Formats: sequence, C-alpha cells, structure tokens
Amino acid sequence: MNDIDIESFLNELYMKGQINDSKSINKIDKYLNITPDTGKFLGLLAQITSAERILEVGTSNGYSAAWLALCTDEAVQITTIENDSKKVSAARENFLSTGLVDRIKIIEGDAPMILSEMNKSFDLVFVDMDRKLYLDILEDVIRLTRTKGIIVFDNAVSHKEEMTGVFNYFNGNSQFHTYLAPIGKGEFVALKKW
Ligand SMILES: C[S@@+](CC[C@H](N)C(=O)[O-])C[C@H]1O[C@@H](n2cnc3c(N)ncnc32)[C@H](O)[C@@H]1O
Repeated sequence: MNDIDIESFLNELYMKGQINDSKSINKIDKYLNITPDTGKFLGLLAQITSAERILEVGTSNGYSAAWLALCTDEAVQITTIENDSKKVSAARENFLSTGLVDRIKIIEGDAPMILSEMNKSFDLVFVDMDRKLYLDILEDVIRLTRTKGIIVFDNAVSHKEEMTGVFNYFNGNSQFHTYLAPIGKGEFVALKKW
C-alpha cells in the first residue's frame, strides 16, 4: 500500500467505526476505536522501540491493530486478542482487504485466560479492553513485556476513575518509568526499565 492508500484506508475504517457506534444501542455492539492521533502515537512508539513483536489486548474491528501494522515494517508481527466473535470476523475482513492478514494474528477468546498461557515476550503491549479486568491481567502483561519494552493503556483520561488501580500499581514503582500522554482518550505509558 502506498501512503495515500494507507491514509484513506485508515480514515475509512475510522469513519465506519464512528457510524457503527452511533447506530449501536448496546455497548457490546460498538467498536470503540482509538482516535486517529492515538494510532499515530502507537505507530511512533512501535518505531521508536524498534518493535518486532507487538501484543494488543482488545482487537474490536482491528482499527488500532491496523495502525500498528501500517506504521511498521512488514517483518513486524502483531498478535491481538478479542473475545467477541463478530468483532473477530470484522477485524479479519478488514485485515484481508489490506493484505495485513499475514502480519496480524487474532487470538479469539478471553484475554485473562489467554495471557496467562502465553510465554513469548513483546516489545510493545497495547491494552484496550474491559477495564474491570486490567488489574487481573496486569502481572501477565508485565511478564510478557520485554525489559525496555513499553505498555500502553488506553482511556487513562476518559475513564481515569476506573484506572486508579493501574495508576497506583505503577506510580512509585521504580521498575517503571511512566507518562500519561494527553492524546486521544489518554494514553498511560509505562516503560519497563528492568
Ligand atoms: C475499546 S475496544 C478495543 C478497540 C480497539 N483497540 C481499536 O481501537 O480498534 C475493547 C475490546 O475489548 C474486547 N474485550 C472485552 N473484554 C474482553 C476479554 N475479557 N477478552 C478479550 N477481549 C475482550 C471487547 O469485545 C472490545 O472489542
């Protein structure tokens, strides 16, 4: 894909998400995509860290995973977890239409269970799922992040009350360097120093 195709594909996908969400009455049917500036930010982090392996928790229809794939080299592998089969199908269709299907592996199922069974390490982990489970998955997310790797949590401003446990865990924890980036819905970034 050339730069224009990438930009129009991402714009189109974002607009589809916005339209879907405005029509959906139930939260479960909404795609709840990241904002485009968050996509750019994630793409930048992936490039800065020379990420070769990226993990996403919460695929939805694949918008954020598409950003990560389209901002990085073809050798970069993205694994993304989603428990809603309709969203898995939507994401798969979107990845197929852009040739990203070989670079993005979707694991369908419950993230806490899947993460607890994973053993590979990742350079960048993006967490964007049911916030009630963030504390449950935290230890596995940290275990799966390599030293000097980065963990990003979405919704750190839009739902900051629900993120209190996560903030408390990281703040004052000398293993991590953290930053709350005022981008999109608020991106809480934690660098694993050792
Ligand atoms: C905010 S959306 C993700 C949006 C996506 N990152 C994007 O920007 O395109 C959160 C997703 O997490 C999924 N999810 C929620 N709880 C989950 C769980 N326990 N296991 C796996 N996926 C889950 C939801 O179905 C939903 O699609």
